[in-house]
Amino acid sequence: MAQSSSISALVFLLLPLLLQFYSGKCELQLNYYSESCPQAEEIIKQQVHSLYYKHGNTAVSWIRNLFHDCIVKSCDASLLLESVNGIQSEKISTRSFGMRNFKYVNTIKAALESACPATVSCADIVALSARDGAVMLGGPHIEMKTGRKDSKGSYLTEVETFIPNHNDSMSSVLSTFQAVGVDAQGTVALLGAHSVGRVHCLNVVNRLYPSVDPSLDPKYAEYLKGRCPNPQPNPVLVEYARNDRETPMILDNMYYKNLLNHKGLLSIDQELLSDPTTSPYVQQMAADNTYFHDQFARALLILSENNPLTGEDGEVRKDCRFVNRK
Ligand code: HEM
Ligand SMILES: *[C@@H]1O[C@H](CO)[C@@H](O)[C@H](O)[C@H]1NC(C)=O
Repeated sequence: MAQSSSISALVFLLLPLLLQFYSGKCELQLNYYSESCPQAEEIIKQQVHSLYYKHGNTAVSWIRNLFHDCIVKSCDASLLLESVNGIQSEKISTRSFGMRNFKYVNTIKAALESACPATVSCADIVALSARDGAVMLGGPHIEMKTGRKDSKGSYLTEVETFIPNHNDSMSSVLSTFQAVGVDAQGTVALLGAHSVGRVHCLNVVNRLYPSVDPSLDPKYAEYLKGRCPNPQPNPVLVEYARNDRETPMILDNMYYKNLLNHKGLLSIDQELLSDPTTSPYVQQMAADNTYFHDQFARALLILSENNPLTGEDGEVRKDCRFVNRK
């Protein structure tokens, strides 16, 4: 009697494992490359470090890359594909405007290929470079699983559905993030990524011309008009303003303090304060950097695990810009 119940307890405990085995379904796991490429995570970290010391804004780009890749259907490096052989690159979407440093993804990939050919996916590079970039910018360290596979195509037409515009309503932004499992608190924390980097005038002038957005601090608006004197910016000119003038290269809660002072750059940034759902979190994050970091880490992790391709789905690209040739 006692024996049979312990056997059934054992079966019960092993059931999820057995089911996973029989359905052939794989999941992300910690240290996925521990056998196939034990140095993988260390190589990525080293590359992120040395790129950061040469071009500090690479770390900023890795964080934006994770958002743009993972929120569009799957965390699968579809973002990195170039427009060739019938593929339309997601990078040509207006939502991708201003994205930079893609060539240095190839630098990271080359270091991995020389140590462990055809083993480490571009999707895992997107995820791990973002987490290592966050640390370089003074953000939290995030334990991340690996084992993502790369897509065999891109989703250009879906980009505008999944990636919000700078002037979308907060309620639509909240439901976009909710669809990938990030709650309101997590969404407020993720937008804290706008504590680093820059915004081109194209995405700001709607708040300056023909009249200044009343939710903008008047002095700050004057400064922005100086940065963006042209109501219809020429996209070829690199006219931009820094996201956070106080600590532009630190992933900290200065972003929320700026919002309280009506110095949010994008409409969507400032909306975090005016929307009753999100504004309590803005107050809390402005008051407590550790709380911001904890919530940022939690939400970025969820985003990084959005619908990954694993096991036999997808492939490990040899070059992050192109699908493998058959
Ligand atoms: C409602 C959601 C969001 C909207 C509408 C949005 C929009 C934008 C826009 C318009 C820019 C400026 C692009 C340019 O003109 O160069 C930008 C920059 C940036 N975004 Fe977001 N974003 C959102 C959420 C996020 C999230 C969740 C992250 C990451 C966790 C993120 C990371 C960044 C970073 C790091 C930059 C600076 C890039 C650079 O300096 O190269 N954004 N975003
Ligand atoms: C948002 O801004 C774009 C330009 O970036 C503009 O075409 C669009 O009409 C604006 N939408 C709203 C709702 O204001």
